Formats: sequence, structure tokens, C-alpha cells
Amino acid sequence: MADLTLPDDPTAPDVANDGVWLHCIQCGHEHPPFEGIIYTCEECGGLLEARYDRYPTFEEFEGSGVWRYNAALPFEIGVTLPEGDTPLHEVPDLEDELGVRTLRVKHEGMNPTGSFKDRGMTVGVRVAQELDVDRLACASTGNTSAALAAYGSRANLETLVLLPAGKVAAGKIAQASLHGARILEVDGNFDACLDIVQDLADRGEAYLLNSLNPFRLEGQKTIGLEILEEFRDDHGRFPDRIVLPVGNAGNTAALYKCFREMVAAGDLAPGDVPKLTGVQAEGAAPMVEAIEEGAEETERWEGVETIATAIRIGNPVNAPKALPGIRETSGTAVAVSDEEITDAQRALAGEGVGVEPASAASVAGLRKLREQGVGGEGEDVVCLTTGHLLKDPDAAAKAGSEPEPVINDTGAVLAHLAGETYDKGGLFGRLRSLF
Ligand code: F0G
Repeated sequence: MADLTLPDDPTAPDVANDGVWLHCIQCGHEHPPFEGIIYTCEECGGLLEARYDRYPTFEEFEGSGVWRYNAALPFEIGVTLPEGDTPLHEVPDLEDELGVRTLRVKHEGMNPTGSFKDRGMTVGVRVAQELDVDRLACASTGNTSAALAAYGSRANLETLVLLPAGKVAAGKIAQASLHGARILEVDGNFDACLDIVQDLADRGEAYLLNSLNPFRLEGQKTIGLEILEEFRDDHGRFPDRIVLPVGNAGNTAALYKCFREMVAAGDLAPGDVPKLTGVQAEGAAPMVEAIEEGAEETERWEGVETIATAIRIGNPVNAPKALPGIRETSGTAVAVSDEEITDAQRALAGEGVGVEPASAASVAGLRKLREQGVGGEGEDVVCLTTGHLLKDPDAAAKAGSEPEPVINDTGAVLAHLAGETYDKGGLFGRLRSLF
């Protein structure tokens, strides 16, 4: 049974390497971290999480970016571009509209490849080097593939990505392609791609760098560390709620782990842990269903669909880690429509913050919860925006305004702006200006 604690004086088991080991969240079996390649528990198949023989306090962190937090990571430094240190934006108009005490937007789209995935890859690719593998692979709705391709090429490792055909935004495919990944477009959704990549990994054909890999989540927990540190420095307290889009539920699991580690370190009181609040698209909401039904596991959704293609996922593999995270922090989960996502994307853009549709789900979800009376004036809230606007230029262009064609003439431009018809030199002049 999960709770808000980790052992605050953990005794490293025999299998630990430099104070790090892999712990099965289901049966508690401990595994050596770097002896062979494992993704799930060898005893029961449960999910693994990295455990450490001590949990550092905020005071121990120094430097910048993800590797500022190396005292809480398995290595001193990894393959870095560098990543992290993303802005925590003020969004005054949205803050007013939503009637919360404080609203901040942590924009993970400002990472090197434009999404939070870089935080996981800088650690994951370092582990791949430790394990001496030569081919990295992932299934992806797009962002993971872009990050894997960039970090893999930086480490001179071969990269293979499996994408759902026709369902990945243009910017993401362009990144994976230019960074040199071998791209396979699968006639199926993300969940089918992940099933295949897991088979390939089990057969030793590639090292899997999806968020099933526990080391990816170690990098991603630094989102939580940055939020806690920066919010505390600005306001003298921790946020009450963190709202985030949910696909495979890796980030939800990573944030929960971050909170438990800071509780174990003694820097975060159990009563100050932010409420983890997950948002999914209505057409792909198995986590919301599980939370609403009080279920221990998610049911796999087959026919998922949403404009937020990054979270078009029906089988969130990290649900066993993330569901307790939402429950133990007294959080919740909510589903939003594509229209609500696009409205939130416009609202964020109106504050200068450009995000892709999946990212806007966090703000859309907060809006919906406020309408339902959740949270309010007493709450400090951070919404996570996970990917940059340019990841999905087609969705951005559709959500924005249409370009207006004008004649190549200052008078014509002024007339157009004033909503008047332009009549330069009568009919002859108009015809001439056309050629
Ligand atoms: N937001 C964006 C922009 C994403 O790309 C993803 C996941 C999520 C949210 C969901 O995060 O899985 O930790 O709950 N994208 C993966 C990919 C699946 O392949 O790029 P999660």
C-alpha cells in the first residue's frame, strides 16, 4: 500500500550499487540497478522504482538544470544539452479568471527539444551508456521520439522509434528525423507501438527508453524539485496543487516520487504535499475513469481519439504508480473536451505562453475543476505545460486566426485594416496592382 513516506534511513540491500537499487512497488523485491537490463520485477512483473540509501535536502543541491539535483539521481552528470531550469510563468489574466490565490505555469516546452522528455532522457541515456547497449528504442506519440533521437545522437547511439501512423504532430516527426532516428510508422495506436517495443526490448533487440524504464522518471522528478524550490523561494510556501496532463502517467508518478523523497528528507511536511491533479482528454481518459470508480488499475481503452495527440493513450503503463500518487496527495483527475483544450491553448497564448494541445489540457482541467467548485481563492496552483507550441504547428494554426491576403500596396493594406474597399486609380489601377 502506497503512502507518503519512504524509509528516511534506508538500509541499502546487498544488490545496491553506490547506494542505488531498483525496488518493486508491487512485491518489494530489490534488484541490482546496472548488472543486467531489467525494466520490471523479475519476481512478479511489477513496476520498479529507483531507491537510494539517503534522500538529500534542498540545501544539498547546487548548479543548474536537471543535474543540479544529482544528489537525488543515480549519476553525477549525464548526456546533457542542457535541460531543465524551465520558466515558472506568471499568468495574471488566467489567475484572475480562475479565482485562485496564485497561478503559475511551469513551461516544460522550454527544454532543448521542446518537451519535458529531455529531463528523462538525460538520465536514461546515461544509464544506457552504463549498461553498454548500442540501440535505444521507444514507442511515442512524438515528444519521446524527438528527445530520444536528440540524446541518442548526442551519445552516438543508434535510435529506433515506433510511432502511430498519421497521429504524430509534424514538428515531432521532423525532430526525430533530423536527429537521425530510424522511424517506423505503425498501423496502430501508441499502445500497440509500446507493446511491440516491449517485445523488442524483451528479446534484447533494443534498450527501452519509454517511461516504463524507472530511470526516465528519475530525471522527470526534477520538474517537481524545481517547482517546489522556486515556489518556496518566491512565496515562502509550497503550492497546494499541481495540475498536469496525463498520458502514460509517467510525470504523475515522477512527481509523487519527488514529494515522497522530500518528505523522507524532512524538507516537505506530509501536510504540505501538493495535490496531484491529472487531466486527460475525454477521448482517452482511462486514468480519470479509474479515479472516479475508485479502481486499483486502469481498464485499457482501445478506440482513443483527441486533438491532443501527445496524450492519445488508452493504456497508461505507469497507472500503478500514479493512481496512489493522486489518491495519497488528495488530488483528483478530470477529463476535458478537445474544444476546452483549444480554448485553454488560446488563453495561454494570450498570455504569451505558446503550448501544444496536450499541454493546454492542464489549464483546461483547472478551469473545469473551478467550475465544479474545486479549489479556489485559498489555493496556490501550478499548471504544467509539457510541450512547446511549435511541436504541433497545424493545431496552433487551426486554433489561431487565419492569415488575410492583401494586395501589395500600402494604400491597400490601410484600406484592408480599416475594413474599406480599396480603389487605387479606379478599375485600371486595381487591375494593374494585381499584376
Ligand atoms: N504532454 C505531452 C506534451 C506529452 O508528450 C506527453 C507524453 C504527456 C503530456 C503525458 O505525459 O505520459 O508522463 O503522462 N508523451 C509521450 C510521448 C507518450 O511519446 O511523447 P505522461
